[in-house]
Amino acid sequence: MKVIVCKDYAEMSAKSAEIVADVMKKKPNAVLGLATGSTPEGMYAKLAEMNKAGEIDFSQVTTVNLDEYYPISPDNDQSYRYFMNKNLFDKVNIDKTHTHVPQGSAADGEAEAKRYEAFVRSLGGADIQVLGIGRNGHIAFNEPDTELVPATHITSLTEDTIDANARFFASAADVPTKALTMGMGTILSAKKIIILANGKGKHDAVMQMLKGTVTTSCPASFLNLHDDVVLVCDEACYNG
Ligand code: GLP
Repeated sequence: MKVIVCKDYAEMSAKSAEIVADVMKKKPNAVLGLATGSTPEGMYAKLAEMNKAGEIDFSQVTTVNLDEYYPISPDNDQSYRYFMNKNLFDKVNIDKTHTHVPQGSAADGEAEAKRYEAFVRSLGGADIQVLGIGRNGHIAFNEPDTELVPATHITSLTEDTIDANARFFASAADVPTKALTMGMGTILSAKKIIILANGKGKHDAVMQMLKGTVTTSCPASFLNLHDDVVLVCDEACYNG
C-alpha cells in the first residue's frame, strides 16, 4: 500500500481530489466509487471547484456509492443519497441518472442488495474507489466480525458505529440500525482504491491496516490483498 502523509485536512482533501481528477482526465467516462462520511467532504468540495474551473468534466461519469442506511428515504437529510446530492452531485455537471446509491427505500432489502451487486459488476467495478475508514477499522458498513461478506448485503451496525454516527442525528436512538453495503469483494473489484483518514481517532485503525496482514477484526486490512491502494492521511492520523 502506498502511503501519502499530508500536513492537514486541507492538504489531504486537495491531494485525494487530484488523484480522482487524474483518473477522470485519463478516462472521461470513468466509474467513480464514492464514499460518505465527514472525511471526504473536503475532497468533494475540491472536485466541485475543479469542475467549475473547467479542469474536470463529469458529463460522462458514472458513480456508485458504497452504502446507504436501511431503511431510509432518499429525501431524509441523513441519507447518503441526500449527502451525495448536497456535497457533490448538485455542484457539478453530472447526469444524476448516472449516479447510483443503494436504495434505502426499497421494499425488499435483500433483493435490492442483489440488484446493486449485479449492477456494480455489470460496470466492471469502479475505476477508482474512494474510501473512508471507521475508527474500529470498518470500511463502507463492513464491520469487524468473525466473518466478512464478499457481495453487497444488508448488515447491522455495531454500537460503536451507531455511536460515531449519532452526531449527525437528533440522538443515537434515531440512527438506523441497519444498512445496505457493498461487500469486501465488491470493494476489492475496483481497479484502484484510495482510502482517506484524518485525525487522531483513526490512528489505531490505520496502523492495524498498515501492518500488512489481513484480519476480519479490521475490515480495512483486506485492502492489503489489492495491488493498487493509496492511503492519503494527515499527520494527526499518522502520528497518533
Ligand atoms: C460511516 C460510513 C463509512 C465511513 C465511516 C467514517 O459509517 N459508512 O463509509 O468511511 O463511517 O466516517 P467519517 O468519515 O465521518 O469518520
